[in-house]
Amino acid sequence: MPGHEMIGKEEENEVKDVFDNGAILFRHGFESMRSGCYKVKDFENEFGKFVGREYALAVTSGTAALRVALASLGLGPGDEVITQCFTFVATVEAIIEAGAKPKCVDIDQTLNMCPKALEKAITPRTKAVIVVHMLGTPAKLEELNNICKKNSLFLIEDTAWGCGGSLQKKALGTWGDIGTYSFDFAKTMTTGEGGMVVFKDKKIYEKAFAWHDHGHENNPNFPRWEDTRSSNGFNYRMMELQGAIGLAQLRKLKKIVQMQRDNKRQIWNSISHIEGIIARQIPPESYETADALIFQVNSSELAIRCREELLKVGLSTKILPEAYTWHFAGTWEHMESLLESHEGNLNDAFDQSKDLLKRAVSIPISVYMNREVPMKVAKALEAAMSIG
Ligand SMILES: Cc1ncc(COP(=O)(O)O)c(C=O)c1O
Repeated sequence: MPGHEMIGKEEENEVKDVFDNGAILFRHGFESMRSGCYKVKDFENEFGKFVGREYALAVTSGTAALRVALASLGLGPGDEVITQCFTFVATVEAIIEAGAKPKCVDIDQTLNMCPKALEKAITPRTKAVIVVHMLGTPAKLEELNNICKKNSLFLIEDTAWGCGGSLQKKALGTWGDIGTYSFDFAKTMTTGEGGMVVFKDKKIYEKAFAWHDHGHENNPNFPRWEDTRSSNGFNYRMMELQGAIGLAQLRKLKKIVQMQRDNKRQIWNSISHIEGIIARQIPPESYETADALIFQVNSSELAIRCREELLKVGLSTKILPEAYTWHFAGTWEHMESLLESHEGNLNDAFDQSKDLLKRAVSIPISVYMNREVPMKVAKALEAAMSIG
């Protein structure tokens, strides 16, 4: 639930700084009026340092981050991009917006992309893979990255939920060619709306920088209105107020993740003894952002019962089991090109994933947790598991 719980004086002071220095809300130009105050640029630099990537580009949303990533790789009509069937619609929307063909594959017990399913789905037209760290748990990056390398595919990590997490001490979003992040209001750190893209390759970063700004190359030898250009583009620029808030939130990110992890551990300790509760599989050396605690039960009826019992004690669930439709490609019949990729039948395309998701329960984790929550969760789940 996360970053927004910790919004306070620090964010206010960063925003005030913008107003105290000429109120220039645009990331470029107006040099003589802003006393060196460049919040978006500073945010990009700080974020890049935080995750360990030299090239970071702030954008308007996590969806925009994915779109910019695909544009920077030159992907479009004729190209196929594979992602997982358990993600938010935004991942597939970005592929469709790029004009490329989206294809989804099954998840495994990690509830992230199944490496075997990926290998099977690759065709000569496949150019890139978007792996998602759903609800803050790292995907099997080592295996997935190896498959991409073996098949000369770009690897993009949709790190919308994984900001502040790592695998084998390497930040999520920095394993592949490009990492994208979301700072919407429900994410681990937030700028209200916003996103970031980080790059391994300087040239790809430069393409992205121009593309997200109508093709502007930001050539230091020309004023902006005479700027050079060599490609088409669009406008996905972040504004200074978001950059200011991002700087303050980023300084809190480690603490946010630590507190969530601590709360998740407390809840898990109170329920792990309950018979019938199966832990989500987590790759070794994962450092999860702990946005949610997900476990499996034996049937979808039981998963629904868990939710009902949690509601009775004033708690709720997150996405699973009640709202997985927005997060499961098996239900996205409104996406024509996705339907085409799966022979017009999405309903039967992801049986392995459907079974895993229908039996999954996701408990939201907050930064500030009432001390009674672990006990309440345990009571609710004990009741659910003992009925029938
Ligand atoms: C996996 C995933 N990718 C992308 C996004 C899009 O992020 P935004 O809401 O910032 O556009 C989301 C948003 O929830 C998401 O869950």
